[in-house]
Amino acid sequence: MDQIRIIGGTSLTGTVDVGGAKNAALPILAASLLGSGDCEIEYLPQVRDVSTMIKLLQLLGVTAQGQGGTITLNAKNVQSVEAPYELVKTMRASILSLGPLLARLGEAKVSLPGGCAIGTRPVNLHLKGLEMMGADIHVEHGYIEAKASRLRGTRIDLDFPTVTGTENLIMAACLAEGTTSLHNVAREPEIGDLCAFLGKRGAKIYGVGTDTISIEGVRELHGARHRVMPDRVEAGTYLMAGAITGGDVFVRGCVTDHMGGVLKKLQETGVELTEEPDGVRICRKGILRSVDVKTLPYPGFPTDLQAQMMALMSIADGTSVLTETIFEGRFLHVPELHRMGASIEVDGPHAVIKGKPSLTGAPVMASDLRASAGLVLAGLAAEGETVISRVYHLDRGYERLEEKFGALGANIRRVREVL
Ligand code: EPU
Repeated sequence: MDQIRIIGGTSLTGTVDVGGAKNAALPILAASLLGSGDCEIEYLPQVRDVSTMIKLLQLLGVTAQGQGGTITLNAKNVQSVEAPYELVKTMRASILSLGPLLARLGEAKVSLPGGCAIGTRPVNLHLKGLEMMGADIHVEHGYIEAKASRLRGTRIDLDFPTVTGTENLIMAACLAEGTTSLHNVAREPEIGDLCAFLGKRGAKIYGVGTDTISIEGVRELHGARHRVMPDRVEAGTYLMAGAITGGDVFVRGCVTDHMGGVLKKLQETGVELTEEPDGVRICRKGILRSVDVKTLPYPGFPTDLQAQMMALMSIADGTSVLTETIFEGRFLHVPELHRMGASIEVDGPHAVIKGKPSLTGAPVMASDLRASAGLVLAGLAAEGETVISRVYHLDRGYERLEEKFGALGANIRRVREVL
């Protein structure tokens, strides 16, 4: 297994490019199932979740051609409707095959995702919405088995604006009979990107970016070409890396309109942010100020940047309260940050962080994708060496992270763990 070794203390300087957004690429790839034409997808991030999704699609009978960041998918000859446990257990986003399979083939058998490190993560809202559209759904032997001769448009009010739930229902509604109106939907930019792709394929979707989306069903979608949006979580991670190391970093491809509450919070810490036509520059000269942060659905502060923000607050001046409202278990990085000298107390959904002048490098363990990114940032700022193990979590969602940080001057390398 690989480890990341970092000797901290270098201020990062230079330009870093943001890759394609994993969480936009995954639903867009799944949406290839909705028709028989060629779908050419560009700017795919080379991360493990994306290769897992392509593997799943191929298992279902989708052909995939291409290499690097561009792939052409064709779902003309889909033969299987089953997303097996072996794949779903490695990537929960496999649930995104449920809506498209059911809408296109009238049938789907998708392993029920279990809980994961960041929480229980049920999919009841996905299932309830599909049932309201006329699907017959049973959960048996660990699998969701869904059938519908043709889904019917209806009104669906989501109890919570679930991201992949919204995506599943939008994709299913594209081929349903009549109009589906979805209320209290998630408004994350990745949903806008999925809808842009679906629109190019002939889907009729209205209200994108608001909390009510309506979809007029059509018989089938045709092929299209689409470039995936840049990854706002990766962009936010680089901005925070610039901030935590007292550096000067230009994050090329950071789209300010996608950053929701992040830039405002960073500004409150005292860093200097400059918007440029093709990205955002961050520069920190003075001390970091503590700020309170609460994670919320978009456009609030994203839960996917909470661990990175916690690393930043660990060396800020004063005390900050970080409240996690999206996932109940997303504080697994706290004990690891303790090992690096951080002072953090967790009380339910709140983490109270007393900033320290510096952290100290230590061996730590990654527990999930974003927690790993938080530990990398802490390591970049800490005195001495930090060794992060279980970096396979990081590889699920960050492309060549150590190379990109290395090019900014960080002393960081990937090594094989010696047992
Ligand atoms: N929820 C339910 N029932 C449902 C669906 C969700 O109770 O049917 C709850 C969840 O348990 C959670 C909350 O609603 O407490 C939000 O979950 P949501 O469904 O919005 O999350 P998700 O769709 O499973 C996506 C991203 C996550 C990101 C969250 C929140 C993808 C593939 N995943 O997950 O990304 O954290 O939205 O923004 O888009 C990551 O990239 O590291 C990651 C975890």
